[in-house]
This record gives sequence, C-alpha cells and structure tokens, in this order.
Amino acid sequence: MDLLQQLQWRYAVKLFDGNRRTSDEDIETLVAATHLAPSAAGLQPYKLVLVQNRELLAKLADHSMMNKDKINSADGLFVLAIYRQLSLDTFTRHVNQMIALGLIPPVPEAELTIRHQRFMARLPTEQDFQTWAHKQAYLALGTLLTGCAMLGIDACPMEGFETASYDEQLGLAEHSLTSSVILAYGTRSAADPGQSKTKYRRPLEQFLVRFA
Ligand SMILES: Cc1cc2nc3c(=O)[nH]c(=O)nc-3n(C[C@H](O)[C@H](O)[C@H](O)COP(=O)(O)O)c2cc1C
Repeated sequence: MDLLQQLQWRYAVKLFDGNRRTSDEDIETLVAATHLAPSAAGLQPYKLVLVQNRELLAKLADHSMMNKDKINSADGLFVLAIYRQLSLDTFTRHVNQMIALGLIPPVPEAELTIRHQRFMARLPTEQDFQTWAHKQAYLALGTLLTGCAMLGIDACPMEGFETASYDEQLGLAEHSLTSSVILAYGTRSAADPGQSKTKYRRPLEQFLVRFA
C-alpha cells in the first residue's frame, strides 16, 4: 500500500455511514499501532480509551459541540486520555519495568524519589505536566490517524468536545486521567460532502525549510 496515496485518500470525515462496521481485526491493529507510538522518556503518559457501546457514544455525542453527528454516525470512538499528574508510583513502576527488561541499570530505591523529583522539576505545575502529556498524546493521535489511513479506515480527529463531560461519562477522573483528543472512525458516508473537497495544504515551498 502506498503511504502518500493513502494520506491523500484520507480526510477528516464529517459524516459516517452508520451501517458499515470496521472489522475487529482492524481495530486490534489500530490499538497495537497506537500502543507502539513513541513518547518522551517512553513514559506514555496517557491511556487509549475505545468506545463502541452505542448508548455511551450517544451520550458523548451530546457533549461534542459541532461534532455530534460525526460521533452518532461513527462506528466507534477513540479517546486519548492523559494522566493529570505523574505520581511517584507510576514513575517507579515505569523505571522498574525498564530495569527488569535490562533497558537501564538497576537504581537504588532512594534514587527513584530523587529521579522523580528531578523529572517533575522540569514540569513543576499540574498545568506544565499536562501540556507535556498532551504533546505525547497527540503523537499517538498521529500514529492512530496514519494507521487508519493505511488500513483504509475513515476517521475524524477532534478537539471539539467538552472535556469535563467526557471525563465524567468515561469515569476518567477517578483514575487521575483527563481526555485530551478524540478520533471517530468508521466508513465515510456517500452523503458526506467532505470527500469531494480539494485537500488544501500550504505549498511545499512555504512549508519545507531545507539545508542541503
Ligand atoms: C487535533 C485536531 C483536532 C481537530 N478537531 C476537529 C473537530 O473538532 N471537528 C472537525 O470537524 N474536524 C476537526 N479536525 C479536522 C481538521 O479540521 C482537518 O484535519 C484539517 O482541516 C485538514 O483536513 P483533512 O484532515 O481533511 O486533510 C481536527 C484535526 C486535528 C488534527
């Protein structure tokens, strides 16, 4: 499959064909691809939430501003939810996994607290941490979007939703998570005018700065 051809083929779908289902195999591939997305320090400060339950999709659609019809017609919805804060526990679990896999040398227990403090010193407020975590989540979104294009699955990435309502509906707050960005997937509707629109990107010479 040709990468550029698929990236030309994809567009942000505005209306899905509600009668078409995405195969379970493709969904599992998308999950696995997103799971492989890189993140700073390999910390993956987010979770991937997959919503396929129609009742829950309808509730979320009601809190999705101009995106209501997209979500109601989609086959499903991915929500990237970031950690609100990086606890010492989560940090320690991550470092211990890296040690167990031989990726980094063993670290004395007391050193973990110091390393956590050192890491957090660069992101002192909850806001700083979340800004950093959002960047990591968006990288995963990019992987998910490209994965959809490569598998011929239609999608619409979205920022237009009410974070607090999503967090409540999905029970995210109790897991110290908050929704970052979402992606609806499915099959484009024949009635979606978006598919006949010209794809616009700034001309390459205004985009690429090359030092050859
Ligand atoms: C992070 C992000 C958030 C977006 N939010 C929305 C949204 O809330 N609603 C919507 O209809 N499109 C949304 N879009 C789609 C963009 O408008 C679209 O990707 C852009 O105009 C380029 O067009 P194309 O994806 O069709 O090539 C979003 C895209 C990205 C990457």
